[in-house]
Amino acid sequence: MENLNIAKLNETVAFIQSNTTTKPVAGIILGSGLGGLVNDLIIETSLAYEDIPNFPVSTVKGHGGKLLFGSLNGKEVVMLSGRFHYYEGYTMQEVTFPVRVMKMLGAELLMVSNAAGGMNSQFKVGDLMIINDHINLFPEHPLRGKNDENIGPRFPDMTEPYELDLISKAKEIAAKNNILVHEGVYIGLQGPTFETKAEYKYMHIIGGDTVGMSTVPEVIVAKHMHMKVFGMSVVTDLGIREEMNVITHEEVLEAANAAAPKMALIFKELLGQI
Ligand code: HPA
Repeated sequence: MENLNIAKLNETVAFIQSNTTTKPVAGIILGSGLGGLVNDLIIETSLAYEDIPNFPVSTVKGHGGKLLFGSLNGKEVVMLSGRFHYYEGYTMQEVTFPVRVMKMLGAELLMVSNAAGGMNSQFKVGDLMIINDHINLFPEHPLRGKNDENIGPRFPDMTEPYELDLISKAKEIAAKNNILVHEGVYIGLQGPTFETKAEYKYMHIIGGDTVGMSTVPEVIVAKHMHMKVFGMSVVTDLGIREEMNVITHEEVLEAANAAAPKMALIFKELLGQI
């Protein structure tokens, strides 16, 4: 697949626009088990991925597969229910295709959530972390290849990928609602293995607070298209030597689901303020 296939993007966007009247101001990617937000969305249009031209199709247990349009806390949004992970075998272009579509539909803000392992000794399972920066350890880059200057710059600036203003608003919302939130650095890598003890230690040493298998490619593409970004991790397991246990996908989903209402509240309130 080419780096940027404008014709395909245009075809997808035209199809979607002929199927919905929603004009999204934000695009929301719902991470592992964090489906809570869907319940608060007043759905106007629901499109199955397989019905959308050029859209990849989701394969992982626990991930849906719908592009949802509607109103959330008074704002028109598009939601990606079921995201595409690089470890599933999708190319970086497929993983990030929905983000480009969201922006072309009018979304100026990308909101992302993920399930992640926590390396910071202050973190407990079920805690939430606002992402204030990331480290990209994916083996492939979504912007590698020919660039189209009409879409975005060849060498995008990444000094502040996560919008500071939104981070401080989210912290205020959390405080007002008695929700504990941390702030920190998310490391994105390909998986699908969870980390070894030595790898978690390494992730912490190089500056990571959480680690997961998503988000970074989507955020890079959002920045390429000049979108604002807000992201949060839910800590579903700990990569801290003394507290480390065997991790299963089921435990990750369970912890993510338990924390979902708190995360949903922050996303919703924040959206109301933009
Ligand atoms: N590592 C990588 N990805 C993850 C983890 C983890 O510990 N937990 C949830 N997703």
